[in-house]
Amino acid sequence: MRRKLLFGNWKMNKSIEEARAFAKESHELKKFADSINVEIGVAPTYLSLAAVKEENPELNVAAQNCHFEDHGAFTGEISIPMLKELHIDWVIIGHSERRTYFGETNEACNKKLHALTSNDMKVIYCVGETLDEFEKGLTKKVIAKQVEEGLKGLSVEQLKKVVIAYEPVWAIGTGKSASKEIAEDICGYCRELIKKNFGAVSEEIRILYGGSVKPENVHDYLMQANVDGALVGGASLKVDSFHQLIANIAK
Ligand code: 13P
Repeated sequence: MRRKLLFGNWKMNKSIEEARAFAKESHELKKFADSINVEIGVAPTYLSLAAVKEENPELNVAAQNCHFEDHGAFTGEISIPMLKELHIDWVIIGHSERRTYFGETNEACNKKLHALTSNDMKVIYCVGETLDEFEKGLTKKVIAKQVEEGLKGLSVEQLKKVVIAYEPVWAIGTGKSASKEIAEDICGYCRELIKKNFGAVSEEIRILYGGSVKPENVHDYLMQANVDGALVGGASLKVDSFHQLIANIAK
């Protein structure tokens, strides 16, 4: 049985003090989530990682990106050993905003996935099609390329450290969420692709939906057989709203 996972991606939001204040209140959130067997986590900006981890060492805390090299001349980047120094063991890779605004490719994601999973880090690997691709009926073609190129060459043991997040670009921050049927269809398709490439381990891999997930729709998504949780932007920023997301899963 795959444990449900609810992860907040804070993107470029919250000052260090705001992140710390959330983390102080996250003890209650985590206790509540544990009580209904839901795993939770947050991905603050790099600058707030230390503060959040310090306030709540029990909370899953993810970086929103990292480089695949350990050190070197890569201005503006941070590395896996640097994250480990802060006791951070989750990283989000390949978010559509990184792909769109910062030119992140499947090949770059693949290098990061190799580096992270061979260093005992857990990864949320994001895939998703643009509105144009969706309208042209190319969703599965795009997803197959992102999944297969991103995960290429990983061993089954490495793959076990990966969570996939299906986030249609047209549903992110737009309030226009995908239907639960679309979410189930594409998350199920991701599982099929993993089965084809890696075998039976596909049943263990968690696949999340992301894109305008709110307390009002989270239950519908998480009731789908192949949707093992959600990656949430806007609705994860406030403690009350995060609490409501957890509460509505159990409803
Ligand atoms: P929203 O929940 O704000 O649409 O963001 C989704 C997302 O991109 C999470 O990574």
